[in-house]
Amino acid sequence: MPVPGYPRLKSVASKRAESFGNGIPHEGMYTREELKELVAYCAERGIEVIPEIDMPGHNQALAAAYPEFFCFPDHNTKVSTTGGVGLYLVCPQKPEVWKFYAAVFDVLKDIFPSKIVHLGGDEAPLEKTWQKCPLSVKYRQKKGMKDVHEELKEFEGKMASMLAARGRRPQLWYEKPWAEAGIYRKGDTVFTWRMGLTPSTITETKKQGLPLIIAAGEHCYLDYPQIPGQDNRGWMPTTTLERSYKLDPAYGRPEKATDHIIGVQATMWAEHLPTLNHLLYRTYPRAMAIAEAGWSPMDVRSWDNFRRKVADHRAFVLKRFNYDLERTKENEPPFK
Ligand code: ACM
Repeated sequence: MPVPGYPRLKSVASKRAESFGNGIPHEGMYTREELKELVAYCAERGIEVIPEIDMPGHNQALAAAYPEFFCFPDHNTKVSTTGGVGLYLVCPQKPEVWKFYAAVFDVLKDIFPSKIVHLGGDEAPLEKTWQKCPLSVKYRQKKGMKDVHEELKEFEGKMASMLAARGRRPQLWYEKPWAEAGIYRKGDTVFTWRMGLTPSTITETKKQGLPLIIAAGEHCYLDYPQIPGQDNRGWMPTTTLERSYKLDPAYGRPEKATDHIIGVQATMWAEHLPTLNHLLYRTYPRAMAIAEAGWSPMDVRSWDNFRRKVADHRAFVLKRFNYDLERTKENEPPFK
């Protein structure tokens, strides 16, 4: 997304040398007009687009463009060519970081009518960054902060205030250690996503008064392969259609223990989607399974009945998108 005053988002951050070792350079950035068109297209179909600006982590592309925003500026930083957790966390003690996000939020306000902005907040190795950052160390000492979590709490609070000034509120990926450190404020909507942690997260978020969206990794991550043997980047589990369908958003618990669960999310990460064909293949039919899990009580759910419905939808999707099954076979596996 272009942000006035930050041309290196386009000239540097929007380009990478290759994707997962395929040797093919890749680049792309929306214009403001394209984003507005997308938002309008979705609105006509009853869909609200909620943008995510992940912070403080998942920011290697920003570090390549503006290394001075980070604790340990490295002018040789390159846009990542793979996925995963990085060590690039914006530094809360640099005024230019706050100026940047103010500009980002102004653009968001102009493009996205949604009152919600997802601020990410996942996979941020504070101990390897802010913990050692000279500016942060000094700041924490001055303020009498006992650890980096207190600094993060202040960071998230300041971001939430900046959003509030623009009539927006944040949503965040749930991270247990952060919840334990009191970083989420009552009423913040959070997402459960880590494999195996959803049952405990349902309990914890209920206690803390946090509305919860179920994006459980073991059912809802649509970038995972769906057939054994497909490219899994070395670690991804296979998430079959049946596994996605087996999602019970309440995890078998009674309503009074789950009345803070406000929805489900099917998560399609896009570090590398070589073609539209590939995106559709990954997304369908599992998105249908998650949609039914979100809309239908467990006592009317039936795998056999769902499979019959999928056959109809499959015919529709193949036709509507001129879907090319042969090309999908070429791309899977591997999709380099
Ligand atoms: C996530 O998958 N890092 C939220």
